[in-house]
Amino acid sequence: MSIGAVKPAEQVITLQLTAGNAGCLQQELDWLARCIELRLHSYFQQQPLLLLQQAPPPPLAAGSGSYADFVLTQQLSAPQRLILLLALAPHLQPQLLDTFFVRNDNLARSFTEFGGCSSKQHQGFLPSAQTAAFLLAGNDLAGRLQVIQLLQSEQQLCRNNIICLRLDAPDEPFLSAQLSVSAEYLQLFYSGSRQKPDYNSHFPAKLLTTALSWQELVLPSEVLADVEHIIGWLQHQHTVMQDWQLGRSIKPGYRALFYGPPGTGKTLTASLIGRQTGADVYRIDLSAVVSKYIGETEKNLATVFDQAQARQWILFFDEADALFGKRSQTSNSNDRYANQQVSYLLQRIEDFPGVVLLASNLKANIDEAFARRFQAMVYFPLPEVSERLRLWRHLLGSKVQLAADVDLSYLAHEFELSGGAMTNVVRYAAVAALLRGDKAIAQADLLQGINRERRKEGMMV
Ligand SMILES: Nc1ncnc2c1ncn2[C@@H]1O[C@H](COP(=O)(O)OP(=O)(O)OP(=O)(O)O)[C@@H](O)[C@H]1O
Ligand SMILES: [Mg+2]
Repeated sequence: MSIGAVKPAEQVITLQLTAGNAGCLQQELDWLARCIELRLHSYFQQQPLLLLQQAPPPPLAAGSGSYADFVLTQQLSAPQRLILLLALAPHLQPQLLDTFFVRNDNLARSFTEFGGCSSKQHQGFLPSAQTAAFLLAGNDLAGRLQVIQLLQSEQQLCRNNIICLRLDAPDEPFLSAQLSVSAEYLQLFYSGSRQKPDYNSHFPAKLLTTALSWQELVLPSEVLADVEHIIGWLQHQHTVMQDWQLGRSIKPGYRALFYGPPGTGKTLTASLIGRQTGADVYRIDLSAVVSKYIGETEKNLATVFDQAQARQWILFFDEADALFGKRSQTSNSNDRYANQQVSYLLQRIEDFPGVVLLASNLKANIDEAFARRFQAMVYFPLPEVSERLRLWRHLLGSKVQLAADVDLSYLAHEFELSGGAMTNVVRYAAVAALLRGDKAIAQADLLQGINRERRKEGMMV
């Protein structure tokens, strides 16, 4: 069938499907170019303009690429779409914004109302929030106020981390903030897949993963029940908060503390909760968070919390002891500053509407006011004999050959070790056997490994 024989609506869909993501983006950028042209014309001719009526957004078909699918699922309005396109233009078709470089001859400088930001390397025009306000509303104050509203942090575009507004000098007008697309969505529109943010000095969090499965987690039944309760919350929070309307009285989110000796499975459990529920678990590096630059700590943490909220990540604070010890008496300005950072972090943890897990070796340290804020305090004990036997079996797996003299039941009965210590023993025993030229691990290899672990523990007492 020739294209000419297709009905108009079908024709649009067919063409978009073949053109794919790039075709769809081109169509969108053409729309942006048309809107810029109309706006500038009406501005200089001082003629009224109903922008979106004169240049309605082009139709988008589901399945025609990552950009179209994104706009449709997010149900972006035409103004939101134009703001996004403006932020995308420097990446995709920078020359499209060159027209904003036009100079105001009366003042021998650029037009303040067009906005724009200075750049270090980019030669083209970098839009600011001001550019968006001008494009959508021109000189109309009511319209400009609506654009400011759309750009607020709690509104869809910023809340979901689709666009970023960067205002380097907090005292300057809000609209002078640089308008850009977040790296994550840029990646989505480029390649169709979403990039998971990577650890860096501005993003002090790392994705926590494990190759182990739920079946390999060995915990006493009451601890497992507590952990399953957290999973239950993740699966049913919507029913609890919305359908049953308990959100009126219950604070959103869930905060749990995992405490207990080292190597008892706290970190492993946090990653498995993520695996079980399909949520990403991000581990926050507290030492990297605290910055010596005033204000930077809050900014870095805010990035993590905002993204975590938008993406429904589980946040995991390992070695969280630093957070809930008694605030130190302030003796100097450094202490005062550290206390202020801790208070900020505690507040963000308390207000976070998702799941926050904190892990610590000590419980004694936790001040009462903080303890009250946890929905669960889960103690991870050292494993008992039967648990140790299961751990030995899981840790050695099915691919390791064991010599005839290996007696795991004896090891489980005789030696009180954490799961973490056992992983060290297994590693040591495997290498020792191979160094000897043996294909099988012998009981002596395991016993030597155990001795080394116990010596380490002795050193730590
Ligand atoms: N309860 C457990 N079930 C199964 N494996 C375990 C368990 N505890 C420890 N392990 C093994 O030991 C490794 C280390 O444990 P993990 O890092 O979770 O301990 P932790 O409690 O977080 O220790 P720390 O307090 O030192 O951070 C795990 O990756 C796992 O292989
Ligand atoms: Mg840990």
